[in-house]
Amino acid sequence: MGRVFVAGSINMDVVATAERHPRIGETVAGEAVLYFPGGKGANQAVAAAKLGTPTTLIGRLGADAFGQELRRFLAAQGVDLALVKDTAGTHSGTAIITLANADNTIVVVPGANARVDADDVAAPMLATGDVAVSQFEIPLPTIAAFFRRARAAGATTILNPAPAKQADPELLDLVDILILNETELGFLTGHELRDSDDPERFIEAAQTLAQGKVVCVTLGKRGVLALVEGQHLLVPGREVKAVDTTGAGDCFVGALASQLACGRPLRDALAYANVAASICVQRMGAAPSMPTTKEVEDALAT
Ligand code: RIB
Repeated sequence: MGRVFVAGSINMDVVATAERHPRIGETVAGEAVLYFPGGKGANQAVAAAKLGTPTTLIGRLGADAFGQELRRFLAAQGVDLALVKDTAGTHSGTAIITLANADNTIVVVPGANARVDADDVAAPMLATGDVAVSQFEIPLPTIAAFFRRARAAGATTILNPAPAKQADPELLDLVDILILNETELGFLTGHELRDSDDPERFIEAAQTLAQGKVVCVTLGKRGVLALVEGQHLLVPGREVKAVDTTGAGDCFVGALASQLACGRPLRDALAYANVAASICVQRMGAAPSMPTTKEVEDALAT
């Protein structure tokens, strides 16, 4: 079995729940303030580790109370934290999240995540069969350095370009599997996309990014659209009652990485990850809502 290496962000998610989201300039009364471990990198690492794949997280925490709490939580999920450094002079990454009707808005303040550098990603011993995963909440040159090392070692690279920002073509050329939602796809391709669009619109946009790589577009409750070697396939979403979609995309990424590291064929891994994400949305919080192998297998069996 290969390993999963995630170079990415670790955040404390400070969540305010409310009946509805405020409009710009408006104040609404909230219901509760909740604290959940999160950050796209940490969420993806927890998803992979809870599904039984040896997983190493590469990242940084601030030398503060949130940092200590996040380290304890991640260790308890079975994530290898040998390459997570405490960093003086900055705070742990913090996400301010508003949750209403299962949907969220997020403001992320990177703190220590902005300090993850090329030296940090030089440490892991990557090998053929491993899967290297990253997202856009750490500096982009660090991700490029990580993927160069992964490619040289024969590992598969997965990029989740979230939150969306412009990326050099050289970085995208280092990617084997790109996983993004419709907003990120629209941003990277310059296409005007809405979640209600026909699949053909997403296929057209995804084709402009493919250039030899697999492109997976996560479409929320509609499932996942994947472009693989010029063919497209749609993995339909499962009908579930979502209470909090925060981290669902990360669950999909981590689950896919874990299955590929186990040697599963891509199509099976996509179906498995789609089910994993459908379990994640039925629980509150990001990292704490990642499912176990048993939960995914039980859901697949029904
Ligand atoms: O993808 C969800 C994550 O985005 C949250 O956990 C939050 O920390 C932000 O990074």
